[in-house]
Amino acid sequence: MSVTGVLRRLTAGGFSQTAIGRIYKVWAPNYELANVYLLGQLPRFRRVAVDKLQLQPGAKVLDLSCGTGANFPLLEAEIGPEGRVVGLDYTPEMVAEARRRVEREGWENVELVEADAASFELDERFDAVIWMLAASVVPGWQLALERAAAHLKPGGRLVIADGRLSDRWYALPFNWVADLLGMGAAADLGRRPWRLMERYVERVEYEALFLGFMYVAWGISRKF
Ligand SMILES: C[S@@+](CC[C@H](N)C(=O)[O-])C[C@H]1O[C@@H](n2cnc3c(N)ncnc32)[C@H](O)[C@@H]1O
Repeated sequence: MSVTGVLRRLTAGGFSQTAIGRIYKVWAPNYELANVYLLGQLPRFRRVAVDKLQLQPGAKVLDLSCGTGANFPLLEAEIGPEGRVVGLDYTPEMVAEARRRVEREGWENVELVEADAASFELDERFDAVIWMLAASVVPGWQLALERAAAHLKPGGRLVIADGRLSDRWYALPFNWVADLLGMGAAADLGRRPWRLMERYVERVEYEALFLGFMYVAWGISRKF
């Protein structure tokens, strides 16, 4: 069996939530290294993903699986002090890092919630939901997709941005490297959440980046 085949076997179905918790406990204080891990692609990737949200000043955004809040600076720049960010993540150590960031920056319009993306229920609806680098990680990712869409206001935008195995012929020989890197982040890069998006949002669009190893997919809430 090829290296890719062995790695696929190990990662198929993804990691347990307990294993994910252990891995992100280690990542939490070192998450700045994620950009090195993603070969320097992260700032551009975040920019593209946040642009797809089409945020207006005053908008309310849910950052699902927000981690250490690395998206928050870009979100804050778009929504301004009148807007609101809710960051939700399962791993306490990641939320603690996000909280430190919020205190350090003095943002008063950010709320942090520790919860499972697959089952959360908030009593507010959002202009936009971003789910970045986590659809490949969250064990109940299909349920999380439904939860994300359910928290949109009518006409709100859902953006999913993540890594994937490439389907470009020239990149196929490197899929095992992607799989290997994915394992270190508890990610199953074989998932295809964009294919389920049309169940919950409409006008779904997809853009591939970085040789097809990254993607941004977005759509608009159909509840209007
Ligand atoms: C690679 S990090 C991405 C963090 C952030 N979105 C970013 O762009 O930097 C994946 C995140 O998914 C979170 N996560 C894992 N399982 C989860 C779950 N069941 N519900 C919500 N978040 C979860 C992890 O704690 C981690 O913070």
